Amino acid sequence: MTAIMTSVASPWPPLFERLLAELDRKASPDWQAEQVALDPRVYLDRERFAAERERLFRRLPLCVGHADQLAEPGSLLAFELCGLPVLLARGRDGELRAFLNVCRHRGARLLPEQGTVCRRQSLICPYHAWTYRLDGTLAGIPRAEAFPCLDRTQLGLRKLPLAVRHGLIWIVLDPEHEQALDIAAHLGELDRELEAIGLARHRFYRQHAVRRATNWKLIVDAFLEVYHVCRLHSGTIGSFFVDAVSVNDSVGPHVRSLIAREDTPEIRTLPPQQWSPQVHGTLVHFIFPNSVFIYHPDYISHLGLFPSAPDETLFVHTMLTPEKPADEKAEAHWARSFELIDTGVFNKEDLVVCEQIQRGLASGANEALIVGRLEQNLRRFHSAVDAALR
Ligand code: FES
Ligand SMILES: [Fe+2]
Repeated sequence: MTAIMTSVASPWPPLFERLLAELDRKASPDWQAEQVALDPRVYLDRERFAAERERLFRRLPLCVGHADQLAEPGSLLAFELCGLPVLLARGRDGELRAFLNVCRHRGARLLPEQGTVCRRQSLICPYHAWTYRLDGTLAGIPRAEAFPCLDRTQLGLRKLPLAVRHGLIWIVLDPEHEQALDIAAHLGELDRELEAIGLARHRFYRQHAVRRATNWKLIVDAFLEVYHVCRLHSGTIGSFFVDAVSVNDSVGPHVRSLIAREDTPEIRTLPPQQWSPQVHGTLVHFIFPNSVFIYHPDYISHLGLFPSAPDETLFVHTMLTPEKPADEKAEAHWARSFELIDTGVFNKEDLVVCEQIQRGLASGANEALIVGRLEQNLRRFHSAVDAALR
């Protein structure tokens, strides 16, 4: 059998050409940018937060992780996302579905375990033991004679729209949302980049979800600028990077950033097809409104941000690896990487500062947050939020 090869041009060489020019100080358009000021109220205001929740978090597809995490039929995972109790379930038919984690009798939480994958044959409500199949249909009611006129077909779990693309799980946090999810259209030009990186081939390694006392946009801000990397992260990952050299683009409401690493100049001696956006630079995709993908040299971090209040955000970090660890040595290697990046960098450095800023803003010390030419992605991101709220 002859395989038909379609040759799709690699998206990376043009980005690297720009990154090399930036290293040579042939300054990018960001160096012409006006200094911008952000209004601290966007992080504090309750009305603004309610609008964001309604128009961004309840309407747009949100990435909630990788399908490999729930690979086995019978796998279940529950989270409280933006105030909604959500349940992901891989049915015995192999299909992945999302439901509200709420019993249709009197509303108890069906799966109380949060954030850890469990295996079940069915879902039994802890309150009065109404039982649901993993496809959401109502299977059984104890003492059914007490409910003489129930239509069981109407009492399946409330479903949330779900799609899997690039191996990633996307849902909309609105049971009334009726259109099928078109993730390719949502991603636009980034769709082929997620494909080129091979996210679908990656495997779930580990996840850590934590609630932090900060506005969700402060976390996005922290992952969209490189100005702080060699400073805040000087004791951890700072030395892997050239100081604040990157190329950045708005792609619809999303942002793409390629950050220069110490190894970037090496590509001058390599053919373009060997230029790697993980080894010779660090590619970052911000997918509007609340996902950040960071492509480290040998693994990928997905960050999902799910706000429950103006000053409270569930930060879900999922680590994806190119393969399952083959032996103990590989396991120890990934475990060390996870510890360094999740605990050492994200939780002890970035998120600590985000929480401090949240309290600092509430103090009234800053009438404006000043955004310089190295932080132009904040302008890109906040304009996209403003546009979506208009
Ligand atoms: S609330 Fe679930 S069975 Fe009663
Ligand atoms: Fe950082």
